[in-house]
Amino acid sequence: MRILVTGAGGMLGRDMTLELAARRHDVVALTHEDLDIADIGAVRERISALRPDVVVNCAAYTRVDDAERDREAAFAANALGPRNLALACRRVGAVLLHISTDYVFDGEKGEPYTIWDLPSPLNVYGASKWWGENYVRSLLPEHYLVRTSWLFGEHGRNFVTTMLRMADKCGADELESSRTVSAPRGAVQGFDERASVFTTREGATAENQRAPSGGRRHIPVVADQRGSPTYTVDLAKACADLLETGCFGIYHVTNQGVTTWYEFAKAIFARVGLAINVRPVTSEEFARPARRPRNSALDAYPLRETIGYVLPPWEDALARFLSGLGKAHERREG
Ligand SMILES: NC(=O)c1ccc[n+]([C@@H]2O[C@H](COP(=O)([O-])OP(=O)(O)OC[C@H]3O[C@@H](n4cnc5c(N)ncnc54)[C@H](OP(=O)(O)O)[C@@H]3O)[C@@H](O)[C@H]2O)c1
Repeated sequence: MRILVTGAGGMLGRDMTLELAARRHDVVALTHEDLDIADIGAVRERISALRPDVVVNCAAYTRVDDAERDREAAFAANALGPRNLALACRRVGAVLLHISTDYVFDGEKGEPYTIWDLPSPLNVYGASKWWGENYVRSLLPEHYLVRTSWLFGEHGRNFVTTMLRMADKCGADELESSRTVSAPRGAVQGFDERASVFTTREGATAENQRAPSGGRRHIPVVADQRGSPTYTVDLAKACADLLETGCFGIYHVTNQGVTTWYEFAKAIFARVGLAINVRPVTSEEFARPARRPRNSALDAYPLRETIGYVLPPWEDALARFLSGLGKAHERREG
């Protein structure tokens, strides 16, 4: 199939492009610079010229806190963008696979959200993504709408890389443990605004906090938001499999299992063998411009019935991701 990937320079976009190319599809990968999906003229022109069978939209405005004051830009990319793609796909008879988010839900449900639950977003980012979903669903029947959550991957800043970077700043003691992968310390650069909700101030948190005993620093992490961390490699594979089915509709695609950011952080440090004190805190203690849902666990039904499997547990995905990071770091060092 000829497949056009938009937002191909992003964290998911890059793994999606790799996965589709590995399956020998004819992949055209367009970054933000190559194609602004908010520009209806450019979108129509590109899609009419390329005549893809499928468009996979990985482009989005993803800075959740910034979106609160940058409303127009968030809606341009996340609402008008998918609308433009849906309209252009309709013209050429292409299918659209659009990526959406757990943040379309308000988090008040006491159990995982099914594909039949009605969204009610808490923040501008979530509202803009919800409008994007609505446009896709109303304008183009031949769509896959894939909601996912808490992404981490090799090609972008995310919660895992942010935690590792903060650990670096902490000057953490390394644990001697044969079961852990080699710690990719120093391998991670940058800070992810999307993850900053879980820390006090722009990554400086760890340097300012000291544990009461032993003098070791600690990292405060939010413990009252629940969701499913998801590895972009696993998500890309499931999306590529979905494309083979012709079963259009909404899907919830996350790694299996539900956790809190606090437990997730502890699992990251345990995996790489870093002795970091993680302190559980509430969302109120770390108020951010954008509110987040307390529960954004997504029920996978009917993913298994459609592609034959659900994604592996998030712990397994984290282990694979960290092992890849460690090996990449060793290659650079060696
Ligand atoms: N990250 C998460 O935790 C998470 C959770 C749930 C759902 N999602 C969804 O998953 C998808 C992929 O997210 P991601 O984490 O890979 O995000 P990402 O790393 O921020 O990638 C998004 C890409 O889209 C590009 N982009 C932004 N506006 C655009 C526009 N108007 N036209 C074309 N490209 C544009 C960005 O380019 P610039 O950087 O140059 O702006 C970036 O390369 C998104 O739909 C997101 O909403 C993400």
